[in-house]
Amino acid sequence: TSPIRIAPSILSADFARLGEEVRALEAAGADWIHVDVMDGHFVPNLTIGPAVVKALRPHTTLPLDVHLMISPVDSFLDAFAEAGADHITVHPEAGPHIHRTVQRIKSLGKMAGVSLNPGTPAKMLDYLIDDIDLVLIMSVNPGFGGQSFIESQLRKIEAVRKMIDKTGRDIRLEVDGGIDMKTAVQAIAAGADVLVAGTATFRGGPSAYASNIAGLKSAG
Ligand code: DX5
Ligand code: ZN
Repeated sequence: TSPIRIAPSILSADFARLGEEVRALEAAGADWIHVDVMDGHFVPNLTIGPAVVKALRPHTTLPLDVHLMISPVDSFLDAFAEAGADHITVHPEAGPHIHRTVQRIKSLGKMAGVSLNPGTPAKMLDYLIDDIDLVLIMSVNPGFGGQSFIESQLRKIEAVRKMIDKTGRDIRLEVDGGIDMKTAVQAIAAGADVLVAGTATFRGGPSAYASNIAGLKSAG
């Protein structure tokens, strides 16, 4: 089994000091930097685009884990790849041909992720799992940080863990939304190996990032 990785979501960072924030997260022991991209259409919030990913790129050597909550998504894949994204994760509902979208991400040389909303069944992965590098289970409805973990998603994490193990391939299982010390323990027990954490990372300010991240990691 893979070690537990923590992917702080910069959605909870100080947007006026993003470069500094990302450097602080790396120094504090973050494994990936989770970048939430929202379009005000696929989800009811607007955040950032490829220009910000590009601006952040020189500030960290950590993988930029880009979570695209935009629709249609295909026309933006190249821009995020060029901007320096390492992982590109898409929702099956964000375009007409998810399989083609995944192939496109791979052909750009990036780690391809598929994200399942709380109402989207694990079964959606049946004909994608052999081609992807990452599954992102949404444990809140996407759009905002600071929401409560939806318990029913634990069963989905368990189901996806089984699917991944059956492939015998190295596929990350990431959980996003409402992660705190209690839900971190539950998500890891269900089979997650990457935890996205916005609120739980940034709570207490920069001097607390390292202990917040270490705490979540110890949940494993
Ligand atoms: C929600 C985003 C999450 C979110 C997590 O749409 O995908 O990454 O920022 O925030 P917390 O950890 O505060 O629930
Ligand atoms: Zn996210």
